[in-house]
Amino acid sequence: MLARTLPAEAQPPAELHRAMRYAVLGGGKRLRPVLVYATGHALGAAPERLDAAAAAVEIIHAYSLVHDDLPAMDDDALRRGRPTCHVAFGEAMAILAGDALQALAFEVLAGDASGHDPGIHVEMLRTLAAACGSHGMAGGQALDLAAVGCRLDAAALARMHVHKTGALIRASVRLGALAAGGADVATLAALDRYAHGVGLAFQIRDDILDVEGESATLGKTAGKDAARAKPTYPAILGMAASRAELARLTDAAIAALAPLGARGAELVALARHVAEREH
Ligand code: IPE
Ligand code: IPE
Ligand code: MG
Ligand code: MG
Ligand code: MG
Repeated sequence: MLARTLPAEAQPPAELHRAMRYAVLGGGKRLRPVLVYATGHALGAAPERLDAAAAAVEIIHAYSLVHDDLPAMDDDALRRGRPTCHVAFGEAMAILAGDALQALAFEVLAGDASGHDPGIHVEMLRTLAAACGSHGMAGGQALDLAAVGCRLDAAALARMHVHKTGALIRASVRLGALAAGGADVATLAALDRYAHGVGLAFQIRDDILDVEGESATLGKTAGKDAARAKPTYPAILGMAASRAELARLTDAAIAALAPLGARGAELVALARHVAEREH
């Protein structure tokens, strides 16, 4: 699906299309699309109703990584075990690849012809837009950059993580629910509590892995957060408190799924995976 969705390398402007494909198709855990499918599946949606939303969130995520790695941001040279997009294609092309991927994600979601109710379809587009913007991922990235070298308190740290990483994870779950045709208010609220916890937990685990992981396993350079005085959970709260908060959030996310009963099993397993992952 993703390979078919992206413009062919031979199509001009070929270099831009090569950079876009490099950024999206170079591996990765695909957590966000998996959350779209798991949520939709829990609510009884056919997989083909979830394909466009799943592709869109992964394309947005890939764009966010390309820009996150730029010299003006985290200045990273390794991503998914390969040179970062700007190292492989140059900085200007990486900026454009990110721009074009963001636009492509909305084109893919808007072009979803799997038969959503028009009101729900617009709400899906709004959900993704809000998750990307200044009140979502881009806003969180701005908080991250502004906080370099600063001593954030726990609330400000959580706010930054909830925006920069949590927003797209939360949108992935909401998109899965919307693509399934929606759900009752209580189920949607339960899923949102789950996604909020998983989103924050995911970034705490990312922060812990930056300290404890190996570059070869992570596919990105370990130890960069401390080197760049990044505001992370281990740096601000310490490792023991970071682990405790990760466990607390994971338990709370799983508990939030109680109203779904057995239908939530796949989502429960994903929350556990997020907390325990090694890369
Ligand atoms: C990395 O995300 C960036 C963060 C939001 C922490 P992932 O760890 O999901 O990266 P990939 O997609 O597996 O490479
Ligand atoms: C990235 O957070 C968040 C987004 C890309 C929006 P990080 O900067 O911690 O991600 P990594 O560690 O480079 O993957
Ligand atoms: Mg960053
Ligand atoms: Mg980074
Ligand atoms: Mg990180």
